[in-house]
Order: sequence, then C-alpha cells, then structure tokens
Amino acid sequence: MVARWWLLLLGLAADVLQVGGQRAPDTTGFISIDCGLSEQSSYVDDLTKLLLSSDAGFTDAGTNYDVSARYTNLLYRRFLTVRSFPSSVDGRSCYTLPSAVPGTSKYMVRAAFKYGDYDGLNKLPIFDLYLGVNLWRTVNITDAGLVQIAEAIVVIPEDRVQVCMVNIGSGTPFISTLDLRPLKNSLYPQANATQGLSMIFTGNFGASDVIRYPNDPYDRLWVPWWSVVLWSGVFGHGNFQGDQDGKFEVPAVVMKTAITPFNPSDNISCSSQARRFNVGYNNHLSMSNYEPSYLKLGYNNIEPVQFFNQYNVTISRAPNSTLPPIINACEFFSTMSTANVGTNAHDDLPFSPVLLLLLQTQCLSASAMIAIKAKYQVKKNWEGDPCSPKTLVWHGLNCSYPISLPPRITSVNMSFGGLGGDISSYFAKLKAIQYLDLSHNELTGFIPNELSQLHSLVVL
Ligand SMILES: *[C@@H]1O[C@H](CO)[C@@H](O)[C@H](O)[C@H]1NC(C)=O
Ligand SMILES: *[C@@H]1O[C@H](CO)[C@@H](O)[C@H](O)[C@H]1NC(C)=O
Ligand SMILES: *[C@@H]1O[C@H](CO)[C@@H](O)[C@H](O)[C@H]1NC(C)=O
Ligand SMILES: *[C@@H]1O[C@H](CO)[C@@H](O)[C@H](O)[C@H]1NC(C)=O
Ligand SMILES: *[C@@H]1O[C@H](CO)[C@@H](O)[C@H](O)[C@H]1NC(C)=O
Ligand SMILES: *[C@@H]1O[C@H](CO)[C@@H](O)[C@H](O)[C@H]1NC(C)=O
Ligand SMILES: *[C@@H]1O[C@H](CO)[C@@H](O)[C@H](O)[C@H]1NC(C)=O
Repeated sequence: MVARWWLLLLGLAADVLQVGGQRAPDTTGFISIDCGLSEQSSYVDDLTKLLLSSDAGFTDAGTNYDVSARYTNLLYRRFLTVRSFPSSVDGRSCYTLPSAVPGTSKYMVRAAFKYGDYDGLNKLPIFDLYLGVNLWRTVNITDAGLVQIAEAIVVIPEDRVQVCMVNIGSGTPFISTLDLRPLKNSLYPQANATQGLSMIFTGNFGASDVIRYPNDPYDRLWVPWWSVVLWSGVFGHGNFQGDQDGKFEVPAVVMKTAITPFNPSDNISCSSQARRFNVGYNNHLSMSNYEPSYLKLGYNNIEPVQFFNQYNVTISRAPNSTLPPIINACEFFSTMSTANVGTNAHDDLPFSPVLLLLLQTQCLSASAMIAIKAKYQVKKNWEGDPCSPKTLVWHGLNCSYPISLPPRITSVNMSFGGLGGDISSYFAKLKAIQYLDLSHNELTGFIPNELSQLHSLVVL
C-alpha cells in the first residue's frame, strides 16, 4: 500500500463486464469525455455502455493527438487519443465541467492519462493536476503504455468545477479521459467542503473482473486485488444485503467476493461462530475485537493521527475468534484540501490517509453444508455459497429467500448420492429445513438426536 498511484494495466480495464438484464441506474449529471476525440464525435463505451463525448465545449486549450501505433495494441478506445497542452512553465490549461445536478454537491471526478508516445518524442512528462485552485496530485508518467488514474471525491459548492493541468517544466501536460459523476451527499462523510478524498486505490478482494457502471451506479472503479502479502488463497461468497447505514453504497457484486486466510484446520462451527479481528497499521492497533455483523457492510475507517510514508495494514484474528478474518474490498484515499483558497502546497508532508475496509461476514447454514460436503466428499456443482446467487444453487438443495434476511436452506436431496458412513449431525444445523432426503445411500448408524429438534422438518 505504498504507491501514490494506482497503475492500471490496460488489459485489466478492458475486461468487459457481464451485465445481466438489469435496469441501468440513473446517469443524470454523468459527464464522460474522451479527450482528443474529434469535435462532434461520440460513441458508446464498450466497458460501461455509457455515451462518451469529445471534449469540445469543455476546454478551449490544447491540441488533439492519436497515440503512437505502438500503443494501440491493447485496444480500449478511450486511450487511443489525447489532448495535449503545450505551454510555458507555470502555464495552466483547464477543463470546465458543469456540476449542476439539483440537490447534489458531492461528486467523483476521475481523470486518466496514457502517454502512448503521442508526440513521437518518447519523453515521459511530469506535470501537476489541480482541482479548481487546489493541487490534486502530480502526474508522473513512468511508462508510456500504462494508464494512470486520478480519482477524487469532493464537494463542489458551485455549479461547475475546473480540472487543470500545470506545466512544471518537465514535459508537456496531456490528458486521455475525464469523468464527472454525482454522488449522494450522504456518501463518504469524510469528504466535506474543505477536504476532499484522493483515491490511492480501490481493491475488490477475490474478484476476477473490474467492476464499474452499471454494476456500480456511481461508476466507481473496483479493481480485482489479490493481496499476496497478507493472505493466501480461498474466497468466500456472501449474499450482501445492502449497506444499511448507506455511507458507501458498495455494489453487491463487490461484496460477493472476499478473501479469508486459508487454513484447513479452522473449525467450521456455526452455533458458536465468532468472527472477531484486529486491524492495525505499522504496529498501531486501530480497531480491536471488531465483529462484523452477518451480511451487513462493516467498515473500518483508519485515519491515523500520526503520519507515515508507508502503511502496512494487517488484519489478524482476535484471540477468541472461531473464524478467520474476512475482507471484501478496501478503498484507500489520501485527503486533499478543497478549501476555496489557493494552496500552493508542494510541501513534502507525508500524505494523510483514509483507509476504508469493507467487510461482511457469512456462515450460518452455509458452513454446515460445507461440512456435509466435505464429510461425504460430494462431487457436484457444490462451490461457493449454497443458496446464492439463485442461478447457482447447489444441485439437490432448495432455499428460501426471506426479505432482508440471509437465505435459508429448505430442502436437501442427497438420495442416490453414494453416501456412506453415519448421518452427519451437521444436518441439524439446517434450522429451516423441511425436506431431507437421504434415501438410496449406504448410510449406517443411528439418526442423530439433534435432528429431532428441527421443528420445520416434515419429511426425512
Ligand atoms: C517520478 O517517478 C520516478 C520513477 O518512480 C521517480 O524516480 C521520480 O522521482 C518521480 N518524480 C517526481 C517529480 O515525482
Ligand atoms: C471537514 O473534515 C475535516 C476532517 O474531519 C475537518 O477538520 C473540517 O473542519 C471539516 N470541514 C467542514 C467544512 O466541515
Ligand atoms: C476445533 O474444535 C475442536 C473441538 O471443539 C478443538 O479441540 C480444536 O482446538 C478446534 N480447532 C481450532 C483450530 O480452533
Ligand atoms: C512494511 O512491511 C515491509 C515488509 O515487511 C517492511 O520492509 C517495511 O519496513 C514496513 N513498513 C513500515 C512503515 O512498517
Ligand atoms: C473475546 O475477547 C474480548 C476481549 O478480550 C471480550 O470482550 C469478549 O467478551 C470475548 N468473547 C468471548 C466469546 O469470549
Ligand atoms: C425443489 O425445487 C425444485 C425446482 O423448483 C422442485 O421441483 C422440487 O419439488 C423442490 N423440492 C422440494 C423438496 O421442495
Ligand atoms: C430426490 O431426488 C430423487 C432423484 O434424484 C427423486 O427421485 C426424489 O423424489 C427427490 N426427493 C424429493 C423430496 O424431492
């Protein structure tokens, strides 16, 4: 978690998302610009299906260029053109974006830069990026073929916002894409009139695809992230029920994937389950004995009082936790001033971070089924969560989906399953089960007493 920039390989961003027949969320106030596109052109973006326009009308400055043919191989149309702003040192070139969605003052602004040797000089530029009068960050192009993304969550009190590039004497500023997205005012309470959040990275743990609009109605960018540092292996699948306190509105699809440490000796025990963990950074404990509630978004917001140049974040199991820790996603920001006075802050203060860890827990009947699967070595499509998504319910199971509660397993049919041995007492953990069919197997021994306590069971 060191980089100030999240360098995104283009191939990753171009993974096209599956968007199964959902109604597209509202795009009122979305501005999506493909900088350098010829005037009056527009097209539909492959990735998000949003309409992208040229930058005509948003800026008077600069010249359009195509990236060099060498950099068009990873074809994502948004990065085939740039607008370049030749200017003298300290020269400022701006885009003006209208931000006039009634009742909204909080916005996400995202700019992206891929140099692609558009000028044929093969000289990687460094320049400053400003939001209004405030320094947002320094754009330091370190590879002609990589995309750098600057994303900020800010309150914009006026009806427009300026995004400016300033020549600092290290090459010609340019820009590839620019987006503005209105957010609900209640989201990201850390962003207010005087303080914005500048994204360092957003990771979606355990995922394989980039998630953007329309899966995220605000078109935030959730990049798959496998931490090789803290965890190895294994994912969980939850059934995220929504962000009840509404501070982040993380898409359900982001919360569906998670990682936990791989440790086969971890007990799967639901009746006595406890998932508690400690979160710390650089030997500071920031949260101890945190217990995420079942299928609810939990978050930990680390805003250190002491600043470092590097943050090593660890999540560790609390001593009396029976389950390992889990993390679904995280967002890592540094704060930036958005006070309406020009801060010419090229001070080298360490950045002040805001880290949001988004977590949910799972288990209940899911882990009983996982234990049953393991005991009888079931070889079916039994992967992930038994009940969700609905289209991938484990064969032989039926589930009910009560509103605002986790799904319950209502029937299990393992007949003709080639099962041997005794009857697992884990069946007794399926508290909502009505039908349990274990016929035509080689099961031996007694029916566990616990099964008699299943009040819903009508057929065994
Ligand atoms: C730009 O990045 C390079 C490579 O990481 C680094 O050596 C250099 O100091 C950076 N320059 C600025 C002005 O940040
Ligand atoms: C914005 O939040 C920061 C940090 O919590 C606080 O210091 C500042 O006073 C807030 N500004 C406003 C206008 O509320
Ligand atoms: C698993 O449960 C057994 C029996 O309750 C216990 O002896 C063992 O220590 C537990 N293992 C772990 C890793 O918690
Ligand atoms: C973070 O972890 C790395 C690798 O373990 C270590 O080299 C570095 O000193 C740590 N940084 C801090 C600030 O603790
Ligand atoms: C776990 O430990 C914490 C802190 O030591 C304590 O507050 C909590 O009651 C413990 N929980 C159990 C189930 O022992
Ligand atoms: C489970 O669902 C299937 C498909 O909807 C249905 O045919 C079957 O009768 C159900 N089984 C039980 C035991 O409810
Ligand atoms: C369970 O599945 C078998 C076939 O595999 C079927 O004959 C039986 O009727 C099913 N039981 C229930 C309760 O649906």
